[in-house]
Amino acid sequence: MRQHRFHPETEAVRGGACLEKRNAPLSQPIYQTSTFRVSDCDEQLRATGTDMFYTRYGNPTHSAVEQTLAQMEGADEALLFASGMNAITTTILSLVESGDHVVAQRDIYGGVAKFLTSWLPKRGVDTTFVEATDYDQHLRAIRPNTKILYLESPTNPTLRVVDLNQAVAIARGHGLISLIDSTFATPINQRPAEFGIDLVLHSGTKYLSGHTDLICGVVAGRRELIQRLRETRTTLGGVMDPHAAFLLLRGIKSLSLRVERQNHSALRVAQFLRRHAQVRSVNYPFLEGHPQRSLALEQMKGGGGVLSFEVEGTGEDAKRVTEALELFSLAPSLGGVESLVSIPVLTSHAMISREQREKMGISEQLIRLSVGIENTDDLIADLERALAALGREATTVEVG
Ligand SMILES: Cc1ncc(COP(=O)(O)O)c(C=O)c1O
Repeated sequence: MRQHRFHPETEAVRGGACLEKRNAPLSQPIYQTSTFRVSDCDEQLRATGTDMFYTRYGNPTHSAVEQTLAQMEGADEALLFASGMNAITTTILSLVESGDHVVAQRDIYGGVAKFLTSWLPKRGVDTTFVEATDYDQHLRAIRPNTKILYLESPTNPTLRVVDLNQAVAIARGHGLISLIDSTFATPINQRPAEFGIDLVLHSGTKYLSGHTDLICGVVAGRRELIQRLRETRTTLGGVMDPHAAFLLLRGIKSLSLRVERQNHSALRVAQFLRRHAQVRSVNYPFLEGHPQRSLALEQMKGGGGVLSFEVEGTGEDAKRVTEALELFSLAPSLGGVESLVSIPVLTSHAMISREQREKMGISEQLIRLSVGIENTDDLIADLERALAALGREATTVEVG
């Protein structure tokens, strides 16, 4: 684990860039090139191991973002990928071989659940799914051939919080490589590497980029593991385009401002929903009554911008609410400046079985909100209007 010289919000703006006092561009130039020219064949050989050889191997624009993210996560190194799924699948594929076993939380992003249940078994790797917060179950699931402990916190879309200290103790006690999808938290709210998690994964498509205009993935962690992943990435080929990497770096500079605003707004939205007569339940880590609230307060700086809630009624009622919203656009994804709404059974978890979804607590009535940076009172008023579309009596809007 690396020491921080500055706070993450400073690292987000200045990290990766050289602080030396010499004439240089202040913002990272885009190396929009697929290849790099050298002067002679000896130099060609030396270039192979650098970020100026061929862009599938690396690129200086990528390096600038990777160094910034490694600093912010408190990790040795970081690597960019073409998407969050690409980062996760490349990581798992480079760490397991036929005959190995994975222990994974049940509540994870649907695409990863599908990869673990439908793809890996065909390649001889089985997964046992466990309750995110039942650590005895984690221990019972470990076999002599278990290689990976796969975690996500807070979870999508149920916002459960994993005890990082306990998870690390289990992984270390059994020689497992610990992986966590920390997309919902961002390095502003949670830095799992500092708890001893080996590899921290992100769909950078979400908060890191922050503007809903690119797709990317990130892995940050221990040097020797990242080195293995780098080789696999080069072979499988899931690199980002340099221009998208530049946009990602630009997004990261305002990450802390956005996330602080989203933490604050999402908590107020969650408090509003909890008091609403048409709302059955609300999931938000920093909300009073959340089962892991004290843990969340200990290991996170904020609850994040995503929350989910169940409407009183049917799946059709949930659809009516989402369609009646104006400021929350009906779209998959999260973490951008614009507020979004989705129904997980139709989007992020559509690809997994109903039975699995029920075990994860994902009902047809569950609505997921990604709170953007709009005015919080406007967002609450929008929700109030949309819930009134259920045709029943609604509570008054709380503003201020
Ligand atoms: C928590 C989480 N992890 C991973 C992913 C996959 O990321 P991407 O869409 O960038 O491939 C998503 C996408 O929604 C996600 O929400």
